[in-house]
Amino acid sequence: MESFTFHNPTKILFGKGQIANLGKQMQLDGVHRCILVAGGGSIRKNGAYDAVIDSLQKASIQHSEAWGVVANPRLDKVYEIINLAREYKADAILAVGGGSVIDTSKSVAAGFYLNDIWDAFLQREKISKALPIYTVLTISATGSEMNGTAVITNTKTKQKFGMFSELIYPKLSIIDPTLQETLPFRQTANGAMDAIAHILEFYFADDKALSTIAINEALILTIMQMTDILKSNPKDYVARANLAWCATLALNGISGAGLKGGDWGCHAIEHALSALHPEIAHGEGLAVIFPAWIEYHCEKDPSRFVRWSKKIFGEDNPTLGMRRFRDRLQNWEMPTSLRDLGIKHDELEEILNMIMISDTVGAIYKLKKEELRSLLMLAF
Ligand code: NZQ
Ligand code: ZN
Repeated sequence: MESFTFHNPTKILFGKGQIANLGKQMQLDGVHRCILVAGGGSIRKNGAYDAVIDSLQKASIQHSEAWGVVANPRLDKVYEIINLAREYKADAILAVGGGSVIDTSKSVAAGFYLNDIWDAFLQREKISKALPIYTVLTISATGSEMNGTAVITNTKTKQKFGMFSELIYPKLSIIDPTLQETLPFRQTANGAMDAIAHILEFYFADDKALSTIAINEALILTIMQMTDILKSNPKDYVARANLAWCATLALNGISGAGLKGGDWGCHAIEHALSALHPEIAHGEGLAVIFPAWIEYHCEKDPSRFVRWSKKIFGEDNPTLGMRRFRDRLQNWEMPTSLRDLGIKHDELEEILNMIMISDTVGAIYKLKKEELRSLLMLAF
């Protein structure tokens, strides 16, 4: 088992009604003036906004609001909110929404102290300070509520890049599964797929971290079962709660312990797809790419996929396991090809060039350009 560091400083308040404790917790941390960051309005419909305002008011915490963060969040919005935070003299950032809102908030929290936050994404600048970040999660998918990563798109350069810093872990995240009852099933499935993809990015990296691998199998199985239940009953609390916690555990350090940092090739590919086509949801892109990635590698060396296929789908033959995986995604009405995502054949070369920012893609199963071209053709 590979040596590793595990450190996760985020405090989680999990369960129905936990927003009521938000203001108190922020007050205890000495917060006086925060920027509330939000998306396109879903938080008004699911009750999160009213509950947050009530909690802030009871704790005498002032706030200013920054709305309009879009899915696949943009750098220009980050700059806009940094300016607001500086003018307002904010001492904390409060994200109320999904991964896009949280990642924007993290970038604002760090960018508050930098000349240009994009330099941190380009790894030209190190984050040495950030405002404290609080989150109220409304869609379980990215794990951003309990990790130190932010992913932002620079629409001018068509780059969708991630950055990591220990300083942008949220100080506190509230996960109230009932807030997610308003999600259209499409978004629930996107989130489930993203969480499965986070686990799989680690899962195939090594076969010696048996404890982590067993945890990961339990997480994948639970995510699939809970998503099936939510397809017919979006208000099932047990399913919402378990899916939510699995998605958090899928990318908070637990699922990667001893697994060499994971591969992340499929994520690099998906980020290029949604950088070029911001209408593609991250989970949808992964639903197309991950099965194709498994199919591609299965042809070369099926032995890597035998355990996964047996444990998750009860199939000894990984090719059959991969088909069962695709069937499940189809059952969730997810896209299964690049064409389904609206990608045209004549865009593939541009996508290929966007992905190949170095000689290979993927940290464990390093794909060269020609191999990646074959994979994209499989996915097409
Ligand atoms: O904008 P609003 O109105 O809030 O609507 C959102 C948005 O349209 C809606 N939504 C959220 N909660 C809802 C709801 N609708 C109804 N009821 C609710 N309770 O859902 C839509 C998608 O939201 P978004 O925040 O974009 O989804 P997600 O959490 O999947 O975030 C995706 C982004 O995170 C990045 C992705 O690349 C993508 O940009 N990732 C971030 C990671 C991280 N920080 O660790 C890792 C991931 O691999 C990923 O790359
Ligand atoms: Zn992801």
